[in-house]
Amino acid sequence: MRLTYTGDLWWKNAVVYCLDVETYKDGNGDGIGDFRGLTQQIDHLDRLGVTCIWLMPFFPTPGRDDGYDITDYYSVDPRLGTLGDFVEFVRTARDRGIRVIADLVVNHTSDEHPWFKESRSSRDSAKRDWYVWRDEPEPFDPKAIVFPDEEDSLWELDEGTGQYYYHSFYRFQPDLNTANPEVRDEIARILGFWMELGLSGFRVDAVPFLIEDIDGGPHEFLADLRAFMNRRDGTSILLGEVNLPYPELTEYFGDGNGDEVTMCFDFVAMQRFHLSMARKNPKALAEALRERPKAPDDAQWAMFMRNHDELTLDKLTEAEKHEVFDAFGPDKDMQLFDRGLRRRVPPMLGGDLSRLKLAYSVLFSLPGTPVLFYGEEIGLGENLEAKGRMAVRVPMQWAPSGGFSRGEVRTPVPPVTGEFGPRHVNVEDQRRDPDSLLHWVTMLIERYRECPELAWGDYDVLDAGDEAVLAHRADAEGGTVVAVHNFADREAEVELVLEGLGDPCVLVDLLVDGTLDVGPGGRAGFTMGPYGCRWFRVAEPDEFPEDASAKGH
Ligand code: NOJ
Ligand code: CA
Repeated sequence: MRLTYTGDLWWKNAVVYCLDVETYKDGNGDGIGDFRGLTQQIDHLDRLGVTCIWLMPFFPTPGRDDGYDITDYYSVDPRLGTLGDFVEFVRTARDRGIRVIADLVVNHTSDEHPWFKESRSSRDSAKRDWYVWRDEPEPFDPKAIVFPDEEDSLWELDEGTGQYYYHSFYRFQPDLNTANPEVRDEIARILGFWMELGLSGFRVDAVPFLIEDIDGGPHEFLADLRAFMNRRDGTSILLGEVNLPYPELTEYFGDGNGDEVTMCFDFVAMQRFHLSMARKNPKALAEALRERPKAPDDAQWAMFMRNHDELTLDKLTEAEKHEVFDAFGPDKDMQLFDRGLRRRVPPMLGGDLSRLKLAYSVLFSLPGTPVLFYGEEIGLGENLEAKGRMAVRVPMQWAPSGGFSRGEVRTPVPPVTGEFGPRHVNVEDQRRDPDSLLHWVTMLIERYRECPELAWGDYDVLDAGDEAVLAHRADAEGGTVVAVHNFADREAEVELVLEGLGDPCVLVDLLVDGTLDVGPGGRAGFTMGPYGCRWFRVAEPDEFPEDASAKGH
C-alpha cells in the first residue's frame, strides 16, 4: 500500500512508547530520572523503532498519585529538569524522527493547585465554579469509586466553606468543572502551550470522567478541543483513555459533534488477550476482534498489553477474571481492587521467553497502533514490595549494574531484585544477544512498519484448523499480510483458506526464512512449533524464484 498515506496520518501505524521521566534515566546523579538522562537514551528508542514517545506527567506535583495530581500545567517538575531541558529533549527526539506526546490530566487538579486553593477560599471566589460544589453529596453508585482501598465517596466536605466538592479519583484530586467555558479556555491554552513547545498531541487521562452538562459523556468538549487542535496543527493527536465496552467507546471517536479523540485504547481486546494467553486458546481475543467496530478512516485503535496502572480485567466475567488471576497472579498480593493484577507480563509468564515472544508477535500483528510501556522490550519485571499500582513503575534497567543512575537510586519504587533484576534483565546484555527479547521486539517493530496493511487494512480473523491458533489477514490497496500464532505449548497443524488471492501465489515468511506455496482454492497448510509465530506477505511466485522451500516454525 502507498506509504504517502502513512506519512500523513502518522498515528495509524505508529509505535508508541510510554515512559515516566522519573524512572527512565538519571542524568545528574541525584538518583531520580530526568529529561537530560532521557535525552541521552534517545538512540535506544530510535534503534528500537519507536516513532512516538508518550511522556507520563512531568509537571510540578505533590506526588500523591505519581504525578497525576498537578499543581502547575505550564512548567516542569524541577526534580526532572527545566522547560529548557524539555525543549531540548523534544528537539532531539524530532531529529531522530520521533514525535512526543504527553499526558493531559485535566479531569482533576491536585487539591494544592492554586486554582483549587482559590476555589475553596470562599463560596464567592472567582474560581468557585472551576470545580464542582454541592451543599450535600449527590447520590452515587459505590461501584463508581475507582480506588476503593482509600476512598468511600465521590464527595468530600470542605470544612472552610461547608460545601462538598466532587472527586472521581482520590479526595486530593478535585474534578475540574469542564462544563465551565473559562475552564475549557484554560485547557485549550494548556494544549496550545505544549504544542508550541513541540508536542504532537496528548494522551487524555480518564476521558469518560470529564464533566459536561449533557447526557452521555463529554463529547461536545472533546469535539471543541479537537477543533482547536486542528486549527493549530492538524497532525496532532488525542489518544484517549476510555475503558468502556465497544458501543460506548466508539462514540469517543466522534458522535456527530465532530471528530473527538484520534485514538482509543482497546481495553476490551487487551483483556481478552490476557484471557486467551491464560487459556492457551485465542478464541476470546478472536471474538473481540470480530466484535470491534471499525474506527473512522482517520482514527485508530491503540493496542497494548500493559500500562502503568493495574492490569484491569473489569470487562471480563467474574469466572474469566479468576482464570486470569489463577494463571498469572494467584497470590492475593499480586491482585488489586478485585479487578486487576499489579504485575508486568514477563513474571506473569514465569519468564518463559518463547511465550513472551509469542505475546509480542501477536501484539504487533494486531490491527491498530501498538503502545509499549517502557521496559517491555527487555522483559522488565515488577517490584511487589511497592504499594498498589506502583509495583510496575520500577526504574529502567540499562546494564547489569542497573545503569539507571550513577548515584544512589531514589525513585518512588526501588529497583527490581531477584531473577528479573538488572543482572539478568538489561539493555546492554540483550543488545549483544541475537536471541534476546530486545532483538525480537526490534524485528517485530521493523516488520510492523514494513507492513502498514496490518494497521490500516481491513482485517479478517480466519479459521486456522486448530483451536490453539489465531490466524488473521489484513488487506489494503492490493497488499495482503497474514499472521498466524500458536497460543499453545504443543505443535499445531494449520490449515488456512485464503480467498480472493492471485493464482498462483506464495506466502513469503517475514520472520524466518521460507516461502510457502498457496494451493488451489487458496489453501495453505503447515506445522507450527509450540508458541510459534509466522507473519507472511502474499506475493506472486516469480517475485521470489529461488526460494520455494516450505519450512515449519
Ligand atoms: C488514570 C491514570 O492512568 C491513573 O494512573 C491515575 O491515577 C488516574 N487516571 C487519575 O488521574
Ligand atoms: Ca536526576
